[in-house]
Amino acid sequence: MKSEPIISASILSADFAKLGEEVRAVLDAGAERIHVDVMDQHYVPNLTFGPLVVEALRQAGITAPLDVHLMTRPVDMLIELFAKAGATSICFHPEASDHVDRSLGLIKHLGCEAGLALNPATPLDVLDYVWDKLDRILVMSVNPGFGGQSFIPSSLAKIQTLHKKINADYPNVVLEVDGGINPTTIQKVHEAGAQMFVVGSALFKAKNQNYSEVIHALKSLQI
Ligand code: DX5
Ligand code: ZN
Repeated sequence: MKSEPIISASILSADFAKLGEEVRAVLDAGAERIHVDVMDQHYVPNLTFGPLVVEALRQAGITAPLDVHLMTRPVDMLIELFAKAGATSICFHPEASDHVDRSLGLIKHLGCEAGLALNPATPLDVLDYVWDKLDRILVMSVNPGFGGQSFIPSSLAKIQTLHKKINADYPNVVLEVDGGINPTTIQKVHEAGAQMFVVGSALFKAKNQNYSEVIHALKSLQI
């Protein structure tokens, strides 16, 4: 029996001029979490948020989980800054840290949930010796760097493989998918075993910005 999908709204596609209102609106509409895409114009070509944005959301009274997705190289200094700013979870790309085990340990030491983000071409053996430090795995179903890209179908096999491994050996690890998720693509990704779904453009760029309607559609799966 599969669990209900958990929606993490990616503010990369929000209207930055009214970020607090946007975050409140998607949470009121039923999103459970907020996904913060941190890009450094080095590991990925785009440039986005720093820790001050997370701190500002906390100061504005946002208590929902804030999931920080680091698309930066290196990662350790930003892990410290985002943890201090109020992140709930922090994930990074294994290619971007010289010492993956140490970076995961640092996240946990700072009291956050730790995750690894796997690019479409990243093999699963990077997880082999760090499973005990993982709270979540973020499977990228697009190449990182931009919102609004199309879901890469080969990620489904990766999600299925991970789902089996998690079910068998690490049932507390959350399997999350990021990129190209919309009310159509979510069905197969959920069937493949993902529990948590990052949704950016399909939510914030929806016609007439009816966030409740989109979140209702995302959650109306044939289970
Ligand atoms: C891409 C980011 C995603 C992005 C997803 O590098 O990691 O979180 O916001 O956007 P959509 O949902 O538009 O594919
Ligand atoms: Zn992301």
